[in-house]
This record gives sequence, structure tokens and C-alpha cells, in this order.
Amino acid sequence: MTRVRTGSVELDEMLKGGFMPTDAVMIAGSAGTGKTTLALQYLVNGITQFGENGIYLSFEQMPDQIYRDAAAFGWDLKKLEEEGKFRIVLTSPNVLLAGGGETLLDEMIKEIGAKRIAIDSLSHFAMFIGEDKLRLEAYRLVCFVKARGLSSLYLWEAPQLIGASFSVTEVGMSFLVDCIVLLRTVEIDSALRKGLVILKMRGSDHDKRLREYEITASGMKVFAPFNQYQGLMTGSPTKVASEKFKEMFSTVAKSNKK
Ligand SMILES: Nc1ncnc2c1ncn2[C@@H]1O[C@H](COP(=O)(O)OP(=O)(O)OP(=O)(O)O)[C@@H](O)[C@H]1O
Ligand SMILES: [Mg+2]
Repeated sequence: MTRVRTGSVELDEMLKGGFMPTDAVMIAGSAGTGKTTLALQYLVNGITQFGENGIYLSFEQMPDQIYRDAAAFGWDLKKLEEEGKFRIVLTSPNVLLAGGGETLLDEMIKEIGAKRIAIDSLSHFAMFIGEDKLRLEAYRLVCFVKARGLSSLYLWEAPQLIGASFSVTEVGMSFLVDCIVLLRTVEIDSALRKGLVILKMRGSDHDKRLREYEITASGMKVFAPFNQYQGLMTGSPTKVASEKFKEMFSTVAKSNKK
């Protein structure tokens, strides 16, 4: 089956080729972890590398700021818009409630033949509509987007998540999506680094390891797994035994040379 590639070679490799077509994917992470960057990168690569046009739906930022931030990564969103391959939709969450924004979205999807959409963010949507209606409205949105054949990213801003400490809302949301990519900061040797892990992916194998990533001048870059540490997800990393052994060994070897 063809996969929906993000264009990041390493992330696609973690996803065994990419996301599954029309899957709803949650990108969860705390503030500043790079959710918006990953979403724009996914849309821009979709257009420029895979011929899949895209829509960026935001409840949060002003368009000028989005164009400016994207330009800093070398992504010319204005040009893609002029070419009819990309659209930014800025709207208030209430426009989407009870199907209200569907005509607007429908027209835009048809207009550019969109295949991908990123929604920034579902947590903002949640804040606006309240917990009681959230599941239903989010479900409606996810179904609407899927029925149009689009592959989607839903950004979710959450305080440092660890597997076992999902809030009730987050657990509810996590059932609605097919795949969850978690971005988080990890503290190692007193330095803050960033780690990415795929928490779930329905119907597919995937990399289960926490891999380091950075937001660079050209977007998100994924690196090797944090192999030599364990306990990173709980916030108290320790070096794994083999690493401790190697360290001890090299210290001994060094002192023997003297
Ligand atoms: N042009 C750039 N070059 C390098 N790093 C950058 C650049 N632009 C942003 N960053 C880094 O990316 C981080 C934020 O990325 P981004 O806005 O995608 O995060 P976010 O998770 O969407 O944040 P928020 O929760 O505030 O919406 C910045 O804090 C900065 O460290
Ligand atoms: Mg953001």
C-alpha cells in the first residue's frame, strides 16, 4: 500500500514508509516542541515532493506570522498559494461547530484538490467548545476530513505527556485518531534535548524507540534513538547498564595507559 510520506527520510522510516492514507494523526507535544513546524513541513513536502496539495487550518496564528515563520525555513507559502496548491484557513473554532464550516472547507478542498490537511490546533478547538461537546465535535471533524479522502494532522498541545499520564480529555482524543506522534523535551546531563516517539499507529508496525530530533533552519530533523539512556519518558533518565559498563571500561583503560 502506498504511504503518505512526510518527506523527512528518518520520520518516514520510523513510520515504515509514512502515514497510512486518510489516517487521522495526532501530533502531541508541549509548547514550542515544533508541532507547527512539523505540520507545515508535511504540507510543503506533500506539495513539492509528492504532488499532494494541502490546507493549513489555524485557530491560533495570524497569517502574516505563518508566512514569516515558514519563510525562515525556506518555505514560500505565498507562492504555493498563487500556484493553487496550498491554502491557509484562519477561522474561529465556532465556525466549524455542528458542521458550520463544512461548506467553506469543502469548496477549498475541491478548489485545490487537497489531499492533506493540518489543523492547528485541536487543543485550541477544545478550549473553545468545552469538554462536554469536544468528543462529538472532534469526531465530526475527523469523519468529515476522512470522508473527503484527506490525510490529516491534528496538533495537540499538552503539558509533558508520558504514556500513563494522559488526561481524560487526551485519552478521549487519542481514541479518535489512528496514529499519535509525541514530541517532548528530555533532560539529559543537565541539557534539554528533544525526543520524538510514535505512541500508536493503527494497522502498521512502527519504530517504538524514542529518537532525538531538532528544529533546524530547514525544519525538523530526526536523529538516532536515545539508545544509551532508559527512563527518558518518566523524566529521570539513567544510562543503561551496557553504557555504564562501556564508560567504566574506558575509564579503566585510560587509567591503565598512564
Ligand atoms: N527558523 C528557525 N530555525 C531554527 N529553529 C527554529 C526556527 N523557527 C523556530 N525554531 C524553533 O522551533 C521552536 C518552535 O517551533 P513551533 O512553533 O513549530 O512549535 P510549536 O510546538 O508549534 O509551538 P506552540 O506550542 O507555541 O504552538 C522554536 O521555539 C525554536 O526553538
Ligand atoms: Mg504551534
